[in-house]
Amino acid sequence: MTELSLPPHLHVIQLSWGYLYSAALHAVVEIGVADRLESGPRSAASLAEELGVEAQPLHRALRLLATAHVFSEDDDGRFHLTPSADVLRKNAPGSMRDAVLMLAHETFWAPAGKLATTIRTGKTPFTEIFGAPFFDILEKNPEFGRIFHRGMAGFSDTENAPIAASFDFGRFEKIVDVGGGHGGFLIEVLGKNPKARGVLFDAAHVLREARIAAAGLEGRCELATGDFFQSAPGGDCLILKRILHDWTDESAIAILRVCRRALAEGGRVLVIDAVIPRGNAPHPGKELDVLMMASLPGRERTEEEFREMFAAADLRLERVVPTPSALSIVEASAAPSR
Ligand SMILES: C[S@@+](CC[C@H](N)C(=O)[O-])C[C@H]1O[C@@H](n2cnc3c(N)ncnc32)[C@H](O)[C@@H]1O
Repeated sequence: MTELSLPPHLHVIQLSWGYLYSAALHAVVEIGVADRLESGPRSAASLAEELGVEAQPLHRALRLLATAHVFSEDDDGRFHLTPSADVLRKNAPGSMRDAVLMLAHETFWAPAGKLATTIRTGKTPFTEIFGAPFFDILEKNPEFGRIFHRGMAGFSDTENAPIAASFDFGRFEKIVDVGGGHGGFLIEVLGKNPKARGVLFDAAHVLREARIAAAGLEGRCELATGDFFQSAPGGDCLILKRILHDWTDESAIAILRVCRRALAEGGRVLVIDAVIPRGNAPHPGKELDVLMMASLPGRERTEEEFREMFAAADLRLERVVPTPSALSIVEASAAPSR
């Protein structure tokens, strides 16, 4: 979207209205346009008639998205699926529909619209806008909860297999995915490691949509509900994937202490999060980091910051294992007792 070759004044204009792409994308996904193009190209008028929406605004949203390679319009005014439009279909393999509905949802964009408040105060305005902190709202408002947890599962599906293949889980007997959502990552790990047993640990309302049984793993994987600030199921591998980045250092250390207590002797805590590199190069962790400060009290971290947090929870950073995704596996063992 942003061409570095643009002159500076056009460059900042382009950045300033970048949210319009997000808005148009969210709208056409919510309306379900991509599914209607599966059988071939169609005009905005024909799509609008079937979808019960207004043809002219639909055409304008699609025309903007076509400039970003999501849909393309031919000379007869018919819109086609492009590869980036195809993944918006509900039944597309690796569909990104739910991920778009989550990432471009008001729970993220409304607080991001008040980022100056966060920068001034150091606190997200999320509670003022929605009435309760992020994860409380997901429990109180079932629609928001569904959008987030399905979106999170769809978003994570793109990275779960390559991350699971980047680490030797074969030496563990009992692998606990703490805050594991619907279980997509644990299913990949258990699928590659047939001798291991698993525990999927999350809030009760999240586990209602767990995929463990559908994956045929209920014989090897338990579901456990609870609060990871209080306790976690015991095991020799405790996974925290995309968890610590939701929280302040103080809360993250509290979660790590709980994991440390639940860790069997010789076991490992695996924090799977972005590890922010130095320098100006783009990194998806830098976008996620701002998302975390807009809607949550969280942040992405550097290797050194992980090392310090581990030490505060009586853990020792062993190594950082890169993966083909935007996330790394930060491996920690129990620190020798002091
Ligand atoms: C960002 S999602 C990550 C989900 C999953 N690990 C993944 O990578 O897709 C954070 C998860 O933490 C869970 N969670 C938040 N607070 C929790 C708590 N206090 N106790 C247990 N789980 C919690 C949420 O329900 C959610 O599934």
